[in-house]
Amino acid sequence: MEKKSGSFSSQFNALSRQVEKLCSHDSSNKEEFLKQSEELFRKVFNSIPGLATLWQKNSRNKIILLMANEGSYIESKGKIAELIGMEVNEFFPDDLEPVQYITGAMNTGEQYHVVMKSKLQTTGKTKWFYQDYVRVTKNLVLNVSQDVTERECAREELQKYKEELHHLIQHRETVREEERAEIARAIHDDLGQSLTALKIDLSILRNEFVPSNRSIHEKIDAMSAMIDSTIRKIQSLGLELRPGILDDLGLAAAVEWLTEEIQKRTNITFKLNIYPEEISLDENLSVNIFRMIQEALTNVVRHSMATRVNISLESTGQEVRIQIKDNGIGIAEDKIRNLNSLGLIGIRERARFWNGTVNITGEKNKGTEVLIKLKINREKTL
Ligand SMILES: Nc1ncnc2c1ncn2[C@@H]1O[C@H](COP(=O)(O)OP(=O)(O)OP(=O)(O)O)[C@@H](O)[C@H]1O
Ligand SMILES: [Mg+2]
Repeated sequence: MEKKSGSFSSQFNALSRQVEKLCSHDSSNKEEFLKQSEELFRKVFNSIPGLATLWQKNSRNKIILLMANEGSYIESKGKIAELIGMEVNEFFPDDLEPVQYITGAMNTGEQYHVVMKSKLQTTGKTKWFYQDYVRVTKNLVLNVSQDVTERECAREELQKYKEELHHLIQHRETVREEERAEIARAIHDDLGQSLTALKIDLSILRNEFVPSNRSIHEKIDAMSAMIDSTIRKIQSLGLELRPGILDDLGLAAAVEWLTEEIQKRTNITFKLNIYPEEISLDENLSVNIFRMIQEALTNVVRHSMATRVNISLESTGQEVRIQIKDNGIGIAEDKIRNLNSLGLIGIRERARFWNGTVNITGEKNKGTEVLIKLKINREKTL
């Protein structure tokens, strides 16, 4: 490709020199001048990379093939130069699109630049062509066509791969979320209950079987205190995995709980604006929003040095708008799309699944704003 355009440009330079020569030519010899002009035009036309055809509207108002560049060839039609004079509809008997573009360009002067997919009759293979349709004069349209199959196939492949990747990420997130909920439930119900039962048994043991043994009492009390602290630890582990409040009381309560938890261990104050107050969303969407806010707030705690955070969560019925704004050091431009860190990528991935957008901006020493907009009724396909 490179080579081709390189040789085209060197030919073009040579032609420019010829044009200059021609322009300074003594115009008294008109015949010679015309001959040279035509020769020059042919050279220019033949140096157009790709397949070039020139279409003319004749005196009977029919559009016919007037010229094709040297050696131009179409797998289904053979050498094009042998088809000179053929009408446009005959030339493209099964393909309306090029006919429409040629006719449209001829009649309106509009230019068309399109990528077309064609199935070749001879080989049955599908090829992609980049096509230009340009009106040169009132009765002439130039069509230049380049085979871009390799590029388009690579683009299609990449798009397919991207979609597969998004499906995979979303699937992995769903499974992870289900597992978290399951483990959180098991921790809360099974482990919590067993430990509580153990504590009750210890208390029975203490009071009924060894009522007056002081050293055993001390040991049992220590064991009981250890059970209490283990219950607290597994409860907070369960909450970290999946705040039950999200399932029981909904998104607004869960976000409130999250900010209170952070407030307890930092000196960040939160202002929360949730509209409508009783915001009610699809369970899957609620979990996703909660995880996005959780990641944004983890970032605030870890990176921002902020003291104040405003969180706004608004639903219009069609869209949810989530804004998290801190007054910290401000995210640096090069960190906004850093491929080495996964938190912000995760937020974008979740938003993408809900046909949403994420806008992150930072102002040095003023703070960072994360603005997420999600569609409530996302289409089921990605
Ligand atoms: N609120 C913020 N204030 C200032 N800088 C921020 C803020 N949020 C993110 N950043 C910067 O953006 C970077 C990328 O954040 P991201 O969440 O993607 O990754 P991370 O937090 O470093 O790692 P992880 O993958 O564990 O989330 C952070 O490393 C940090 O430098
Ligand atoms: Mg992070």
